[in-house]
Amino acid sequence: MHEFLPYAWFEGKCIPFKEAKISIATHALHYGTAAFGGMRAIPNPTNKEEFLLFRTEKHIKRLSQSAKLLLTDISEEYMFKALEEVIKRNKPEKPIYIRPFVYTSDLGIAPRLHNIETNFFIYCIELGDYLSPEGVSCRMSSWTRQEDRSLPLRGKISGAYITSSLAKTEASLSGFDEALLLNSNGKVSEASGMNLFIVRNGDLITPGVDQDILEGITRASVIELAKSFGINVIERPVDKTELLIADEVFLTGTAAKITPVKKIESTELNVKRPIMNKLKSKLIEITEGRSQDYDNWVTRISLQ
Ligand SMILES: Cc1ncc(COP(=O)(O)O)c(C=O)c1O
Repeated sequence: MHEFLPYAWFEGKCIPFKEAKISIATHALHYGTAAFGGMRAIPNPTNKEEFLLFRTEKHIKRLSQSAKLLLTDISEEYMFKALEEVIKRNKPEKPIYIRPFVYTSDLGIAPRLHNIETNFFIYCIELGDYLSPEGVSCRMSSWTRQEDRSLPLRGKISGAYITSSLAKTEASLSGFDEALLLNSNGKVSEASGMNLFIVRNGDLITPGVDQDILEGITRASVIELAKSFGINVIERPVDKTELLIADEVFLTGTAAKITPVKKIESTELNVKRPIMNKLKSKLIEITEGRSQDYDNWVTRISLQ
């Protein structure tokens, strides 16, 4: 069960989470016509009065773009103000996951995006590890990642998560931790809620943004860090068999952070992951506010 933080942003103000309720006739609930974000924030390990958010501008920008794909304009300043207020009001003491959500809030039927009221909320949960940091087992999903020509995959659109849900549950019920989805060209796309990287002969390889992936913010951060370390980064289509012979395979995402893949179907993977480990420790250093060179990736919110 999730530990929900006591205050949420709902219909323009900060109110008790338990009072933030929507009707059963809410349009988005029926048609998946919503877009959301997912951010992590932690207490500053060296200053309990300060909360650290990772890559806030990028998350807010992606949500505003996702909303735009649903024909909703929502100002980035407004979302940031709401976010700040929710955190200040909740005064969290543990690491949290923040879920901002833009949705068609009108009541009633007819799937559409025009002539419809939209709204915005934010709630937060306490969140430790989403996947085991020791590594996960993955199966190749029998579900195919959707194509950009059938829905806007550059956005984090609620309706798209039916495929993630089917894939995750299929993996889980067949004894695996996670699902890896191929795209409609048969190339590796991503996991149910994470991007994928492999290492081969010292190169860091990941499916490109044309492979029907969500353009992950952790993915972009890992690419930038790898380049700064002088690692050769290649964005290109990845075949399933490459996963099985790769030197390292790992997943990236806000919830999953950097999680190693230890097994795919019946194939046990390498357990030595020098490149992943280097990237992971740098990312932790940055998110904990200990890296001066990447301090602009961290937003500091005072809880006083
Ligand atoms: C489908 C999907 N892919 C990838 C990611 C990773 O994206 P990010 O690193 O921005 O969290 C997520 C999580 O947001 C996701 O839901």
